[in-house]
Amino acid sequence: MDQYAVVGNPIAHSKSPSIHAHFAQQTGQQMVYSTLLGDEVGFEAQVRDFFSKGGKGLNVTVPFKERAFAMCDILSKRAKQAGAVNTLLMGKNGDLFGDNTDGVGMVRDITQNHGQSLKDKRILLIGAGGAVRGVLEPLLNEQPESVTIANRTVEKAQALAEHFDCLASSFEALQGDFDVIINGTSASLSGHLPPLKDELIGQQTWCYDMMYGKERTIFLQWAYERGATGADGLGMLVGQAAESFYLWRQVRPETASLVDEMRQQMKAAD
Ligand code: ATR
Repeated sequence: MDQYAVVGNPIAHSKSPSIHAHFAQQTGQQMVYSTLLGDEVGFEAQVRDFFSKGGKGLNVTVPFKERAFAMCDILSKRAKQAGAVNTLLMGKNGDLFGDNTDGVGMVRDITQNHGQSLKDKRILLIGAGGAVRGVLEPLLNEQPESVTIANRTVEKAQALAEHFDCLASSFEALQGDFDVIINGTSASLSGHLPPLKDELIGQQTWCYDMMYGKERTIFLQWAYERGATGADGLGMLVGQAAESFYLWRQVRPETASLVDEMRQQMKAAD
């Protein structure tokens, strides 16, 4: 059977094997998807070994996305823009091809599962790390009116804004209200909220947190307390997996029902 895996460190709690098993069942594909504990020293050798033994595709997660990027022979445009690779496959001639499906997974979750058009919207993107860099190109493809990147370390926001031709700001200097606010910082994982002023958000604002959890994230709590609505990034996780699955199998699975199912399971696991 065709072999796939996700490589990262840590990896034991990855949801990717169960997501891909669900997709395989849904679409009738014969495949096996497992986890591979990434080796800090020998990551590149592990990847080559996986493919030399006939492996068909790898997902790459923290902390190896940049190293996967560096070892590819061919990169998609969106992987080049992201500077990181989360999906690997081997071409017939032995070339290693790298793509990044994080951004398109997020955009499809927002536009299709949540029905939020991003066209002509004023978007505030919070954070300037790898997660934000990974979504910028697919986000800009939706033709928003503007994208403003705000970050604690403003220089990092400025560097990204220059590269992607959008706007940058410190948290303090942000002004006006936004149609869509996307949190791409890791702050909410540790229960921290960037210092966002109340004037940035209103009842019409739709908020998205790239992080997710069993409970509403601290960023989404902040949004709902101010009358706004939104969603967390569970659908992004499933969405990026669906895009990888599509690259490997040329079949795009349906994601909304799996997101609902995973949400129920997370709630039930009290
Ligand atoms: P990732 O690859 O997940 O994006 P990263 O590259 O380490 O991880 O970036 C983390 C992001 O979260 C950065 O934008 C970081 O802000 P700085 O660039 O100023 O470090 C942001 N971040 C993390 N903790 C934060 C906090 N407590 N408050 C505000 N921003 C925070």
